[in-house]
Amino acid sequence: MCEKNSQQAPKKVLSCIQPSGMLTLGNYLGALKNWVAMQDEFDCTFAVADLHAITVRQEPAKLRQQIYSTYALLLALGIDHEKNTLFIQSHVPEHANLSWLLSCNTQFGEMSRMTQFKDKSAKNPSNVNVGLFSYPVLMAADILLYKPDLVPVGHDQKQHLEIARDIAIRFNNLYGDVFTVPEPYIPKVGARVMSLQDPSKKMSKSDDNLNSWVAILDSKDDIIRKFKRAVTDSDATIRMSEDKPGISNLITIYSAVTGKSSQEVEKEFEGKGYGEFKLAVGETVADTLAPIKKKYDEIITDKKALEQLYREGAQKAERVAKKTYFKAMKKVGFVL
Ligand code: TRP
Repeated sequence: MCEKNSQQAPKKVLSCIQPSGMLTLGNYLGALKNWVAMQDEFDCTFAVADLHAITVRQEPAKLRQQIYSTYALLLALGIDHEKNTLFIQSHVPEHANLSWLLSCNTQFGEMSRMTQFKDKSAKNPSNVNVGLFSYPVLMAADILLYKPDLVPVGHDQKQHLEIARDIAIRFNNLYGDVFTVPEPYIPKVGARVMSLQDPSKKMSKSDDNLNSWVAILDSKDDIIRKFKRAVTDSDATIRMSEDKPGISNLITIYSAVTGKSSQEVEKEFEGKGYGEFKLAVGETVADTLAPIKKKYDEIITDKKALEQLYREGAQKAERVAKKTYFKAMKKVGFVL
């Protein structure tokens, strides 16, 4: 493992998260827990991708609240703003600026193949805006500005990372070496958390069934209630199995939270009933999230302190972003 203060420079990591609504237990166990772990091993840049959020219509007051809340939650999870660069995307104008240079070096055809665009435009036919279409180019700019070696991405963002790599390679070939071509990073731990009501679907905050997902900031009672109502099966044994998606999901969650393997979890609950197991999962999740919620409540009430942190974060990010952006401008032929 390469520690931050060892001789060799640590690898650079970049990731961003959209401030679109409440973050869920799925976001936590699937991605954010890894962000927290990665900060000890890598040189990390993390951003709240607010510019991406307006590819779907947002209510201004709510968007503002969600940007604050997402930034505060990242701090509450334990992401250290000094050790890492933690900022709000729109505070660093180079993201939108570089996105234009990259747009002019990206083909309409390749953007048209993005499956997320096809899905999202099919779901929301009344607002198929140009930003939704070119969203992966903005994401490429987010990444390439900071020259990361690694970008941790979930399954749904793999195609976007691939296009960011293609754009970087093409740009470098045309204009000379400007960008680092990043590799996808599949973290060692990372659970795919499914809906508590329909375990064939990923847990999602946009699910209309509020019992299907747990927010990181849910109260203990709500968390326990949602787990008690989780869909299971009629077999009554607690084991991982493809034909037991509900129970398997609960085992996955319990094992991600406790660090126990699924075999250990099966053993622990051997001969026990579903009711007892669901309660144990609910209580463990609630106890894990409680200190995060407490910290969050402290952070969000001190807007002044919060503002200072995100301003500092933006300055730190901009120093890096500017260098890359100006280099790209110069190579393309602009007068600086
Ligand atoms: N598009 C990502 C998502 O919706 C968020 C994102 C924006 C991102 N820019 C990024 C992720 C850069 C990784 C790197 O989840």
